[in-house]
Amino acid sequence: MASAKLGVGVIGCGTVGGGVVKLLVSEKDHLVRKTGVAVELRRAADLDPEKRAATGLPASVLTADAASLLAEPGIDVVVEVIGGVQPAQSFIETALAAGKHVVTANKELIAKKGPELFALARKHGVTLHFEASACGGIPVIHAFGQSLAANRFEKILGIVNGTTNFILTKMHRAGAEFADVLAEAQRLGYAEADPTADVDGHDAAYKLAILAAMAFDSHFDYREIHTEGIRSISARDIAIAKDYGFVIKLLAIGAAHDDGRVELRVHPVLVPKEHPLAAVSDSFNAVFARGNYVGDVMFYGRGAGALPTASAIVGDIIDLAMHQRGGGTSPRMNFGTLNKAVVPMGEVKSQYYLRLDVRDRPGVLAAIAKIFADFRVSISAVTQEEATGASVELVIFTHEVTEADFQKAVAEIRKLDVVVGVRALIRTQV
Ligand code: HSE
Repeated sequence: MASAKLGVGVIGCGTVGGGVVKLLVSEKDHLVRKTGVAVELRRAADLDPEKRAATGLPASVLTADAASLLAEPGIDVVVEVIGGVQPAQSFIETALAAGKHVVTANKELIAKKGPELFALARKHGVTLHFEASACGGIPVIHAFGQSLAANRFEKILGIVNGTTNFILTKMHRAGAEFADVLAEAQRLGYAEADPTADVDGHDAAYKLAILAAMAFDSHFDYREIHTEGIRSISARDIAIAKDYGFVIKLLAIGAAHDDGRVELRVHPVLVPKEHPLAAVSDSFNAVFARGNYVGDVMFYGRGAGALPTASAIVGDIIDLAMHQRGGGTSPRMNFGTLNKAVVPMGEVKSQYYLRLDVRDRPGVLAAIAKIFADFRVSISAVTQEEATGASVELVIFTHEVTEADFQKAVAEIRKLDVVVGVRALIRTQV
């Protein structure tokens, strides 16, 4: 029997909190064997009595009052799994100021308030762990923060949102439209009733801010991340992408420039089907990175769900238990020590896929080609479907060009009276 003890309090008994409780209870002996420390679940808090009851814990361990949990002397580690900024931020600040370590899955809070929370943790000699905040069960924070920390990263590319990857995969397989697949995903419980954070890319942007801080050793303001979601992806674009050997994915992209600045962006990309990220399907997540020593690495797994997320949270608790045994706190809290600038989106270079409907008339291609030439856009391929009505579909792929030049060219092309509509614009470079 271990003599050292680590008391744990869990705030939030929802899906993830329930998973953490389940692991701490069922793996109690396993955790002692692994760490030499008795990891004891002392208290679990939730305002909702049904969620408290669903943990299966005795009533004596449960409370509706997070403040009392935070004041308990026997609790060394507070697990925050309620999500959102408030009251999570206040709970975490109270815990850190009371000398308690904190383990959180809260990507929004870490992305928005990370530097100040880490400063508070350092001030009080405790640790704030956040492995579950990006990509759930995949140990990518630990990897960037420690195992791969010798590297300078040229780029990171992530499929970091399971909901959108599930929807895009369904659209690829069934040839279905976004709205229909979203409705089905909501009916099956794979997508939230309010899907905004997922389908508009905000969830991915928070996770990219965290991953980029770890990989590029700099704090970044998540508001500087150019963010687009997947609402405008159509079955038609997916079918064309397939014909040309691409899969459409929502990617979180970070890329280091030689001048020290970093590109950070979240948007759909036509990924060549040979790229390892193209094979990441359904609700799985993956992060691909290129380091100067390690070369290419890729992490793959479950980015959400009760048990994968709990696996990451309990991993952080194990880290704390092992370091407590050594008499100190974890050294792994280097959340962005530098202040690197984000490259403005207009300067980002990419190749593009453009789909538009035009009138079937002489001179149309010449007019479009002239505008592209005026803005230094070089075309790599053009396909025109056989005309069946008044308008005809044109699909254009470009060579690499800056976003600013490409957008200016497209704005001019939209004004041509022979252009019925620009239907899609998707970047194709990874
Ligand atoms: N809603 C997220 C996703 C999981 O779909 O990946 C939590 O970040």
